[in-house]
Formats: sequence, C-alpha cells, structure tokens
Amino acid sequence: MNKLIQEHRKRFGEFEVIDFVDEAETAKLREQIDVDVPMELHWTWNYGSEVEELRRLYEKGKVNQWNAETDLDWSHPVTRDEFIVKPEASILAQVTKLMGKDEATQKAAAFDEINYLLSQLLHGEQAALQLCGQLTNVCDKMDEKWYAASQVIDEARHIEAFSKFMQRKMGTIYPIGATLKILLDMLLEAETAQKKTLGMQTLFEGMAVGIMDMLRGECLNPLLVETLRRVEQDEARHAAFGVLMMRRVVRDASTEQKHDMEDWAFSILEALNANQQLDMLHLFAPKYGLDADAITQMFLALPNFAELNSLAYMHTVVPNLRSLGLITERTEDQWRKVGMLVDSAPGVKGTPAVALGAS
Ligand SMILES: [Fe+2]
Ligand SMILES: [Fe+2]
Repeated sequence: MNKLIQEHRKRFGEFEVIDFVDEAETAKLREQIDVDVPMELHWTWNYGSEVEELRRLYEKGKVNQWNAETDLDWSHPVTRDEFIVKPEASILAQVTKLMGKDEATQKAAAFDEINYLLSQLLHGEQAALQLCGQLTNVCDKMDEKWYAASQVIDEARHIEAFSKFMQRKMGTIYPIGATLKILLDMLLEAETAQKKTLGMQTLFEGMAVGIMDMLRGECLNPLLVETLRRVEQDEARHAAFGVLMMRRVVRDASTEQKHDMEDWAFSILEALNANQQLDMLHLFAPKYGLDADAITQMFLALPNFAELNSLAYMHTVVPNLRSLGLITERTEDQWRKVGMLVDSAPGVKGTPAVALGAS
C-alpha cells in the first residue's frame, strides 16, 4: 500500500515518521486557503423520512443545542502559573521535569503544549464545518441533508467555543500543522459522500472524541472541562452519524470497494500517527532547551509505546472501523505495527457504543 506524504518521511529505528522541517514549505501549505473541491450536488424530491435512525439523530441534535456564550462560565481564569492538565498528561511537562527544570517552566511548557493541541482541534473543527456544508449538497437523502445541516451549526459552535477560549484565556491560536492541513484537504477534496463521511465523520470525528475524552479526564481547569464535555456530546452524535451512514455504504459495497475504503482509512490515520507530534515539538523544543527528535525517539523506544500511543485510536475510531468491517484480518497487522491498535489496552473505555450511544 502506498503511504501518504512520502517525501517527508524518515526512519527512527523501525518507525517511519513524517517530519516537516522546512518552515517555508509549511507556510506555503497554510497559504493555500482556496481549495478546489469537485462535488456532485444532489436534489431530492422525496421529503419523507427514508432513514429512520438518521431522523432520530437529527431530532437529538435539535434538542441538545447549547450556547457557547451563555452556557459556559467564562469567569473562570486560565493561567500559565497553574497546570491546566495533569502534568502526567503532558509530554513537555514530563520531559522538562526529567531535565531538572523548575516547576514554573514545567507549567509553562504544559500550557504551550495544550494551547497547540487545542489550536489543532480548532482547525479540525473548521474542516468539519466546511465538510458538513458539503454533505448537505452531496448526500442524496433528505434525512442525510437535514442531519448534516444540524451538524453545521454544531461545528460553528465548536469553533466559537474553542477560538473564544484561546483568544480570551490563552492569548494564542497556533497555525495548523502541515500534516493535518494535507489530510484535511484530502477529505474536503474527496469526490463522493461516502469518502467524505468515512474520512471526516468516522476517522476524524472518532479521533476527536478519543482525544477530547482523554484530555477532559486529565484536565484541571473547570472552564475547559465544561467546554470539552459539551463539545464531546456533540461529537459523539457526529461520530454516530459516521457509523450509521457507513453501515449502509459498506453493506452495499463490492469487495473491491470495501478494500479500497479499508486501505484509505488506514492510510489517512497512519499519516496522522506518523507525525508523532513532531510539529508541536519542533515549535517548542528550542524554547525549553529540548531536542524534538530525541523526545520522539525516546517515546518510540518505550516498552509500552504501543499501549500509550494507541489510546486515542482504541477509544472510538478503531472499534468503530472494526464493527463496520473496515479493519479486517487483511489490514489489522498494519495497524498493530505502527502502534495504533493493541489487543488489550487497560483503562480504555471505547467501544462502538461510545459513538452509537450519542446523547
Ligand atoms: Fe466539532
Ligand atoms: Fe464534529
């Protein structure tokens, strides 16, 4: 299988990482704000409900709307002087501690790291907004269009909540990482509703639920905890749409089409995983006297690397892909080999029910 972003790959021992070191090249990727997206727009004259489960999800979406401005308590302070997340959950906090830096430095490093992660989530939210807008066009059933439309307002609210959090409380929104920009563009450029749904709703929404749920578990700031809790509730609905829609798509697909979807799903998430936070580490390592490559190599060499690395994947996206029949014996070993799938991960709550039980 051809891996994505070949030209930026290098080996750290057995592991192949994607590393963008040329800032000018990354800047050029960010400047591409106009993306040519070929889409087939469908009208439908059937205004009745055809997919009952999607109609129910749309109804849930209407009932569970919230207001980022008034439902969050913006009076909670956020400061660099306190850990926003438990230090065990921050690579930079742990490494600076290991290097003997004082606690203020550890806190500042953890703050930067979380600020970067939230910035990437924010850019992901913008991609989700754009993609859902596309789904209202490309989907052919009215239930799908309605559901996608309800998700458009959810994603706008997520952008609002995260961007306000960073503007008001953190002071910085970091630019999008190169790998993430390339992958999100691939989803937005995908021609069919099936691929868009698989890419955004199943893969990225599944990842978002995993990352946000883990982050919330480690988070010490009440405003961020509440923001994540509310966003996550919406995301679970979005991931559920991905599963419900893809179930029908997979059921009707030929073996060849199934293999194609299975391989595509792997190649997208493999590339995301291959970056191993190098974008973030390159940005902050010099500030704290650290070496980005050395940190990544250290993480990759941990005896429990796969267990730690797979947590976000095993939470929702891997169980969902498995239940859809999009991770099979044919590809399972590849997922295992790069630390995205482990046979048993202690403490992982994720099952397909996480997505399907969307409130
Ligand atoms: Fe979202
Ligand atoms: Fe979403």
